[in-house]
Formats: sequence, structure tokens, C-alpha cells
Amino acid sequence: MTSITSRNTGALVVMVVLLAAGWWLYGPRSPSTWTATDLAILQSLSIDNLPPLPPDPSNAVADSETAARFGHRLFFDTRLSANGSVSCATCHQAERRFSDGLPKGRGIGLSGRNSRSIVGTAYSPWLYWDGRRDSQWAQALSPLEDPAEHGGNRMQFVRLIGDDPAYRHFYELLFGSLPDFSDRRRFPDAAAPVADPALRAAWQEMTAADQHSVNIAFANLGKAIAAYERLILPGPSRFDAYVRAVLSGNQTTAEGILSNEEILGLQLFIGEARCTECHNGPLFTNNEFHNTGVLTFPGDLPDRGRIDGVRLVRNDPFNCLGEYSDDPDRNCPELTYVRTGIELIAATRTPSLRNLGGTAPYSHKGQHDTLASVLDLYNRAPLAMIGHNEVEKPLGLSRRELKWLEAFLGSLDAPLATELEWLTAPVN
Ligand code: HEC
Ligand code: HEC
Repeated sequence: MTSITSRNTGALVVMVVLLAAGWWLYGPRSPSTWTATDLAILQSLSIDNLPPLPPDPSNAVADSETAARFGHRLFFDTRLSANGSVSCATCHQAERRFSDGLPKGRGIGLSGRNSRSIVGTAYSPWLYWDGRRDSQWAQALSPLEDPAEHGGNRMQFVRLIGDDPAYRHFYELLFGSLPDFSDRRRFPDAAAPVADPALRAAWQEMTAADQHSVNIAFANLGKAIAAYERLILPGPSRFDAYVRAVLSGNQTTAEGILSNEEILGLQLFIGEARCTECHNGPLFTNNEFHNTGVLTFPGDLPDRGRIDGVRLVRNDPFNCLGEYSDDPDRNCPELTYVRTGIELIAATRTPSLRNLGGTAPYSHKGQHDTLASVLDLYNRAPLAMIGHNEVEKPLGLSRRELKWLEAFLGSLDAPLATELEWLTAPVN
């Protein structure tokens, strides 16, 4: 009798354990509550924690609405290109959160990298995957002359401003009179200090003073474009609404905002998966450079990333310390104390994780079609092709946990905090 009972109890215990294990593995899981440390992290990630736009003393018109209107037109103007068909908006499309849906940007030719979103870039001390520019205005100048992007030249651009009455009007309101570029012997139709031999030769024939006045006008175009780009900012997402509810102690409201899976993903994101080591702050980026072992496409050379970016930004004549900055103090701590160590080999700038729903494919050369594929990379942590993968240990998350993380990333999608009129081509 006794022995039968104990056998039954044994079977019961095994069954309960099996059921519990099954429930734990496959059943729905409700998230536990947040610790005080967690709450501090959640608050730091919330868009409510986004500071006001940092001033840009190197750009005197950064916060001018007239400059933003001028920049808005320039951003959408295909005349600013070698063949009259490429504008900034070709590769930075508002409906795709200012990216283009392609692995690599396509303008006059094929860009070397994936078109990054420009949302919220006013907050970043560095621009581009490798940070080779240090302000929005200095950045805006380089696609204009990149043979794969707009493929134009600065002489062509400043001449266009002089020839278009509306543009000349904007320019002179903001920057004073445009120099007279009409003397073709001094100012050829096409000239720029770029790789193209003919453009370069024409540029070298100009006097230093004439080159300088063209450079000033060219830099001013970048400054107007930057004034426009400063308006392109992320808006509050479901994640932010959730944090607001949690912080005000409103647990029931909070749980109606994010699903269980999304909350579980958030727990992993700030916990076990260590994502906030790099994707932190209200834009989910530390704006630093890291090597995360992203593999290149077969046949593509591994990207050297920041190690080249440092050299390029230091040599850029339009950088913060250069003569085209409007800041009389040349107060440039980022550039002055820039990091240069070999850990920067193949390091790229941590992207924001807000609005990823609109910006596939992902990674610096568009190597990943889906978020699941990016997460798989972190889960495996492969050896870097060059340099050293900072994600040293594979995360080893289960398929279910990866799904949760992906679900959480989806909760960061939201309409931009930018008025609609700026998101479409300007009406003249
Ligand atoms: C042919 C496509 C193309 C065109 C045209 C183009 N871009 Fe880009 N843009 C890219 C690519 C590709 C990158 C990333 C390149 C890199 O990091 O090396 C990029 C990066 C940027 C970034 C940096 C974003 C960040 O977070 O680092 C900004 C800002 C930007 N572009 C603004 C502009 C502006 C302004 C124009 C027009 C003057 C423009 N782009 C024209 C493809 C393009
Ligand atoms: C060591 C710093 C670091 C850590 C830790 C890290 N990331 Fe990243 N993340 C980056 C960098 C740098 C890139 C850009 C990689 C590239 O393409 O060159 C990136 C890219 C991404 C992208 C692609 C975004 C895009 O626009 O292309 C996603 C998604 C992402 N990370 C999510 C995560 C998640 C989720 C975690 C946690 C599992 C995580 N990251 C952990 C630094 C990091």
C-alpha cells in the first residue's frame, strides 16, 4: 500500500516537473517587475530624456528658419547633380525614414556603403559609418561631389545659386552678397579639388583667393542643408509611452501598451543581451565606434571603418577646426581629443535603433536583409574579418528569445517629430 502511494507520488512529481518545464519553455511568459536599476535605464532610453538640440557654433545659420527653407529646396533639387536626376532625397527618402531600401546607395553610380538614416543626426558629433565628417554641414558637401552620388562639382553648384533668382535671394538674405563668378577665365564652368583629372586641373588653375571665395559659398550651401536636417527628428514610440506609464506607477496601462513578448525583449535588451553597452541614451546610440564583426559580402573587401574615418575627418578642410567654421573660438573638443587607437580597425558608428522598421536592409553595406539576421550575428559573434570583434561571446539566446528581442525593436518605430511640410518636396 505504502509502496504504491510512493510510486504514484513519484509519477506525479515527474509529471508536474515536466509540465512546469514545458510551461517555462513554451508557455506564454509574463514579465517580472522592474528593479530600481532597470527603471533608471528605462528612463535613460526614453525620448523624454532627449535634450534640446545641441547648438552648432560652427554654423551661424543652423537655427535659422530661412536657412531651413533654403536647405529644404536644396535637399530635393536634382539640378545639384552631374545628370540632373539625383538629389539628397534620392537616397534619403522621408517615407523610408530618410534611407533608401537598398543595400548600398545608388546615385550617379553605386555608393560604397548603406545609406544611413539622417533622423536625429543633429545630435551626433560624427557623421557617416566611419565618422569622416564632424558636422551636418561639412557632411552635406561630400555627396554633392562624390562621383557615385551627385557627381557634381562646387563651381557648378555656386554658379547655379547665382543663376537661379530664388536661390540667389535666399543666399543673399542669409550670407550677404554672392561673389561675382561671371568671369569665365577666373571661374571655369566646372572645377573642384576631386579625383577627376579635368575638374582637378581646372581647380588648380584658379588663384587661391578665388578658390577660397568658391569654398565659402559652397560651405554656405552645406550650412543651409544642415539647418533643414536639424528639423528631422524622431517622435515618441510605443516604447516611450510604456516607460512613461511604468515610471508613473501605472502598471496596467503600461501592459496595455507593449505586448508580453516586447517587454520580455526589452528585459533581454537591457539585461542579458547587453545591447545597452552601445545602444544607449534616448537615441539608442552612444555615437561611438565599435567593431561588431559584421561580415562583408563575398568579393567585397572588409571595411576599414573608423581607422580611416579619423584620418579623413582630420584632413577635411571643412572640419570644426578649419577656416570655414563660423565659430571664432574653434571650440572643437571632439576633434581635438579624437580617439585613434588600433581598436578602431573596422569599427563603425553605432546606429540609432529607433525606426528600424523603415530602414532595411541593415548594417554598413546592407549585409543584413532583416533584423532577425542582425540578431543572429550577435548570437554567433563570429571572428572579425579584420580587427577584433568587441562582442566577444556569442549571446547564445534561444530562438524564442531572439523573437522577443526583435519584437521589442519593433516597439521603437514611430512617426517622426517633424512637421509634414518638411517631409515632402517643397512647393515653390
Ligand atoms: C547616392 C545616394 C546618396 C545621395 C544622393 C546622398 N546620400 Fe547621404 N548617404 C548615403 C550613404 C551611402 C551614406 C553612408 C555613407 C558612409 O557612411 O560612408 C550617407 C550618409 C549620410 C549622412 C550621415 C548619416 C549618419 O548617421 O551618419 C547624412 C547626414 C547624409 N547622408 C545626408 C545627405 C545629404 C544632405 C545629401 C545631399 C547633399 C545626401 N546625403 C546625398 C547615400 C547618399
Ligand atoms: C559593442 C557595441 C555594440 C553592442 C554590444 C551591440 N551593438 Fe548593435 N550595433 C553596433 C554597431 C557598431 C553597429 C553597426 C555595425 C555595422 O554595420 O558596421 C550595430 C548595428 C546594429 C543593428 C543594425 C542597425 C542598422 O541600422 O543597420 C541592429 C538592429 C543592432 N545593432 C541591434 C543590437 C542589439 C539588439 C544588440 C544586443 C543584442 C546590439 N545591437 C548590441 C554596436 C553594438
